[in-house]
Amino acid sequence: MTYSDRFAKIADPTVMNLLKHTETPNLISFAGGTPNPEALPLNLIKEALSIIEPNPQYTPTQGILSLRETLAKMYSVTPESILITSGSQQALDLVGRVFINPGDKMYVTNPTYFAALYAFNAYGSKYVSDLESANTVYVIPNFGNPTGETMDLTARKQFSQSNKLILEDDPYGQLYFDAKPPQSIYSLNSDKTIYLTSLSKIVGSALRIGIVIGKPETIEALTRAKTGMDLCTSGLLQQISNYVLSHPDYPNYLNAARSYYKNKCQTMLSALTKYMPKEASWTSPAGGMFIWMTLPESIDTQELYYKALEQNIAFVPGYIFQPFGGKSSSLRLSFALPTSEQINTGTEKLAKLIC
Ligand SMILES: Cc1ncc(COP(=O)(O)O)c(C=O)c1O
Repeated sequence: MTYSDRFAKIADPTVMNLLKHTETPNLISFAGGTPNPEALPLNLIKEALSIIEPNPQYTPTQGILSLRETLAKMYSVTPESILITSGSQQALDLVGRVFINPGDKMYVTNPTYFAALYAFNAYGSKYVSDLESANTVYVIPNFGNPTGETMDLTARKQFSQSNKLILEDDPYGQLYFDAKPPQSIYSLNSDKTIYLTSLSKIVGSALRIGIVIGKPETIEALTRAKTGMDLCTSGLLQQISNYVLSHPDYPNYLNAARSYYKNKCQTMLSALTKYMPKEASWTSPAGGMFIWMTLPESIDTQELYYKALEQNIAFVPGYIFQPFGGKSSSLRLSFALPTSEQINTGTEKLAKLIC
């Protein structure tokens, strides 16, 4: 087989191979960005499956109107400003298709979400760390992947005034522990911003429901590009999603998920303080699922990853998230999936490998 020139740029196989190991039984996984089933509205999904009248047909490419209407109320926009995608991962690809020309410069943070880079790579994007020279911006302002950090309002205002096309990726924003994060960049400049969110972390990643909010003209262009990808996102899954989101009990589930992750995060932060050497430092997120830990520069976390796997512990090594390549002494720890006991034993074992 002869692969296209593009193929080599779109998916580094080392990442795929690395993440394959995370399915080993008995593994304590701090690796995935997977929500915990205990924090998802599973009862509402079951109820939806027994109550909704399933539509087995193709549905409009932009998404079913009932779901777009529900979301329009939640986000105070019109249904015309919303596109439903097959996960927000598809939305990242769509934005690349519609807005990126080969060689265009995109501002990204270092580190950033690696699968977004894979999506943009297919369209020949180049990455830069200075805003001035960029054509477009990709940021994850709320409880970001991988750092768990939140962008402050001043930085949001600066981006919103930059006159660049901004892609604001926000799958974790609803999972704040105490206070809501600052207002979105989209709310500061809806003309220049495309806002992405997802039901993956709050309703279920199996639904594969991504949500794009932008001006109607942008939504129309993205919808046209989506037609060539999959015609439409599963209407059935959109019906289920709409049932869950419009259910009067849904806000209670979301509140419970916030407390659930706050608790898990606290457990991990306490374990890190107890077991990690004093040279290690880490972020203290105000929401989401991730803590980003940085070790002394002499430690390559890709090597540490294989040592940890031998002890049945997984995390994601930092080099994966680096848009400009190179080794990394940082790593991403997710507190979402493991039990509190696993967080404690896993952190203690990991610390022993580092000390
Ligand atoms: C920052 C970020 N963007 C996008 C996605 C993709 O999410 P989805 O499941 O909606 O495709 C993820 C998933 O982990 C993510 O962390």
